[in-house]
Amino acid sequence: MNRRYLLDNQQSEAGVRFGALAELFDPVTFRHVDRLGIGKGMRCWEVGAGGPSVPLGLAERVGPTGSVLATDIDVSWTQGIADGVIEVLTHDVAADPPPAPPGGFDLVHARLVLVHVADRAEALRRMVQALKPGGWLLLEDGDPMLLPLLFPDESGPEQQLANRLRTGFRTLMAERGADLAYGRTLPRALRDAGLKEVHADAYFPITSPACAVLEDATVRQVRHHLIDRGLATDEEIDRHLAGVATGQLDVGTAPMISAWGQRP
Ligand SMILES: C[S@@+](CC[C@H](N)C(=O)[O-])C[C@H]1O[C@@H](n2cnc3c(N)ncnc32)[C@H](O)[C@@H]1O
Repeated sequence: MNRRYLLDNQQSEAGVRFGALAELFDPVTFRHVDRLGIGKGMRCWEVGAGGPSVPLGLAERVGPTGSVLATDIDVSWTQGIADGVIEVLTHDVAADPPPAPPGGFDLVHARLVLVHVADRAEALRRMVQALKPGGWLLLEDGDPMLLPLLFPDESGPEQQLANRLRTGFRTLMAERGADLAYGRTLPRALRDAGLKEVHADAYFPITSPACAVLEDATVRQVRHHLIDRGLATDEEIDRHLAGVATGQLDVGTAPMISAWGQRP
């Protein structure tokens, strides 16, 4: 199995994808962060940060006396935001020793990361270990199999083509070890890890301009994989991107499940 992360952060589309993910999911993430009472002076670990928006939002809440550690296997899109509150570190959550600030973290958060990590059970164990007693783990992950279609309303040829390309994209993810039904397992995983006060909910974008931006950047990013693997032709991809660009299609994306629990 090829375990390399499919949506490589080195490609320029990664920045566009992070912007679209922020627009779609930051309000959900910070609704949870605020409900958990994350505030001044606290210490947070943002795992697989990707773009800058979540570390910056956390820093706004905990600074200037608290701290935010933003880690990723590729920190190209966050390294510029390091300051007195935010520290940025290249780190593989499943392989590298967990950072251990004295006393542990008040919040460890990972969004749309574990679904891509082949050894996700080990990653989760390390995140729990890094919490202080009373600290919160907030995990947010997609569950593409809850809504396998990009267009649940498959009303015409453009929608059918898009759904077929989406199946191809999922094949590529699965071949790299992604668990496409991972989101729904989060509450059980948190409980099994010994956390208490476990809750979960889901955010289900049906359509939004940010979904179209995300789809365009994602397809451009994996285009050569789809073609090399025989899952789509150049012509089909061009036709799909042209359809998305019209702004007339109700492009959606996979639901995101948020689950949180507290270390006793
Ligand atoms: C889909 S992006 C999500 C980015 C961001 N969390 C968000 O929600 O906008 C997944 C991120 O996880 C990172 N990643 C993948 N495998 C990782 C690993 N083993 N350890 C740390 N980060 C990882 C990727 O580099 C990428 O930045």
